Amino acid sequence: MGKRQRSVEDLGLNIIMQNFYKDKRVFITGYTGFKGSWLCEILLKFNAKICGYALPPEELSLFNILDLKNKCANNFADIRDLSKLKNAIKDFKPEIIFHLAAQPIVLASYNDPVYTYETNVMGTVNILEAARECDSLKSFVNITTDKVYENKEWPWGYRENENLCGFDPYSNSKSCSELVTYSYKHAFFNNESSPAVSTARAGNVIGGGDFAANRIVPDCVRAALKGDKIILRNPGSIRPYQHVLDCLNGYLILAMKQHEDKKFAGSYNFGPNESDSVTTEFLAKTFCEAWGEGVSYEANVNANAPHEANILKLDCSLAKNILAWHPKWDVAKAISSIAEWTKAWRNGNLKAQACIDAQISEFFNL
Ligand SMILES: NC(=O)c1ccc[n+]([C@@H]2O[C@H](COP(=O)([O-])OP(=O)(O)OC[C@H]3O[C@@H](n4cnc5c(N)ncnc54)[C@H](O)[C@@H]3O)[C@@H](O)[C@H]2O)c1
Repeated sequence: MGKRQRSVEDLGLNIIMQNFYKDKRVFITGYTGFKGSWLCEILLKFNAKICGYALPPEELSLFNILDLKNKCANNFADIRDLSKLKNAIKDFKPEIIFHLAAQPIVLASYNDPVYTYETNVMGTVNILEAARECDSLKSFVNITTDKVYENKEWPWGYRENENLCGFDPYSNSKSCSELVTYSYKHAFFNNESSPAVSTARAGNVIGGGDFAANRIVPDCVRAALKGDKIILRNPGSIRPYQHVLDCLNGYLILAMKQHEDKKFAGSYNFGPNESDSVTTEFLAKTFCEAWGEGVSYEANVNANAPHEANILKLDCSLAKNILAWHPKWDVAKAISSIAEWTKAWRNGNLKAQACIDAQISEFFNL
């Protein structure tokens, strides 16, 4: 398909999506986190009504920078608390649920596997239990990860029909979350009036406003802001890096399409094009070039660090062919948008808000 035809199709899909989400009641778990905050911001631009459920935001968080507490209905509570979760859903009566709440860091899962499994597996059971009692619900998307697959360290991308068996507790808990969703979908959401249920497996997501520990882009940003050298733990590891807007665009298209027709429900990979599965070193180098100001990096490999996959790629043919989704921003554009947002934020929260607004408008042609 030519570039021109694709941008015409994108424009059409963007308009359909803005019309679809207007006034929709959307419940988002994990809305105080990095991806959740971007998702809220997009949905607010589409004039959706948002209710969130998550632990309170970190002091330094995109959620606080964007003042999302005053733009959404809030539930600051634990996903492991089934009765609070049920009440929140009963009160809000959502049509759409995005489930993002999770302990999402691999290294943290080595330090606290029990909490990771409780949050990521029982959290999924709890949200699906609450969903069973929600008559208004039409569309449910569980956000898992590219790490759900049994990693064979091979050079091509995993497909949705491949074996689910993450290695470390985080990845494995997300494989379990997929299995829980499969069971609920077939055991409980199996008649005409049931909501459509899907899982979305995205690659490593990057964008302005991620402050998480032990993630490469936030590590780059922290070092650049302090004028320090960026230290790379795994310079040679290859990951499918993708701007958060591309990934969320996939979730939004999926939730909309399956809301209209359940035949779209399923499990989908959302990742970058092959050329954007790059090494951590390449990512750091691109960041240094985009940031300027003399920032640089060096490798410091710890031979005793816990195991993490070396090569991980996704095959996204299914989402491209069935949902008409495709990645729009390559890794260089994603990195330059992060440098742009971070420098805007350096000048205050209002500048950060204006910058994120401009990036969302650019992406969705608003
Ligand atoms: N960021 C990535 O690169 C990436 C890649 C693939 C998948 N994911 C998935 O996307 C989702 C969001 O990731 P993120 O990067 O925004 O992470 P994040 O750490 O920024 O946000 C996590 C969210 O989950 C909430 N949460 C955590 N434990 C909770 C609990 N016990 N009860 C209630 N809420 C709880 C937090 O409050 C926060 O709102 C996660 O499910 C993660 O596994 C992220």
